Amino acid sequence: MQSLIRTKRWLAQSRQAIHSVHLLLIVCSSCLFLSLPSTAQTTSPKWPDQMECRDLTSNPDIDPVLGGWCIAIDDRRGNCVACHTFNISPWPISLPTAGNLAPPMVAMKARFPDSAALRSVIEDASAFNPRSSMPPYLKHQILTPEDIDHVITFLETL
Ligand code: HEC
Repeated sequence: MQSLIRTKRWLAQSRQAIHSVHLLLIVCSSCLFLSLPSTAQTTSPKWPDQMECRDLTSNPDIDPVLGGWCIAIDDRRGNCVACHTFNISPWPISLPTAGNLAPPMVAMKARFPDSAALRSVIEDASAFNPRSSMPPYLKHQILTPEDIDHVITFLETL
């Protein structure tokens, strides 16, 4: 009889202990869940995809960095991503993987300290390499000078 009471008490205590562990787990996992999105946002801003860009670029006061990104990925405008990849993370899931026909766009400010030099390549790459496959964006009026300003502002953040 005595041992039965002891077993029952032990069982009740164990159940209480398991219950506390459960509670602790729930509290911990919700803390983790709540803290994750904010960390992800500060370390890696979300780059809009082409559809999101179409809404954004209808706003004339768009942030020039975002505006430049939107021109660069738009397959009816810059479409730089057909040939170049950009040093951004995370790459939008709904955007096709960038091409690797041309050099990746990394450390642009270090490699092109003079933005006029960067502008000249974008305006007309054939001036530097007559056999370049890169579209001469200004010469062929694919982009306006203002579009190119935005693209340069974006590239210089990479
Ligand atoms: C059809 C492919 C193609 C597209 C589209 C393209 N490029 Fe290029 N780009 C190249 C190639 C190839 C080179 C290498 C140099 C050359 O052959 O002219 C190059 C070189 C460059 C360079 C010099 C890079 C370096 O490391 O020296 C810059 C800057 C550049 N491209 C920017 C752009 C931007 C900005 C766009 C979009 C507005 C773009 N490119 C679109 C093919 C392309």
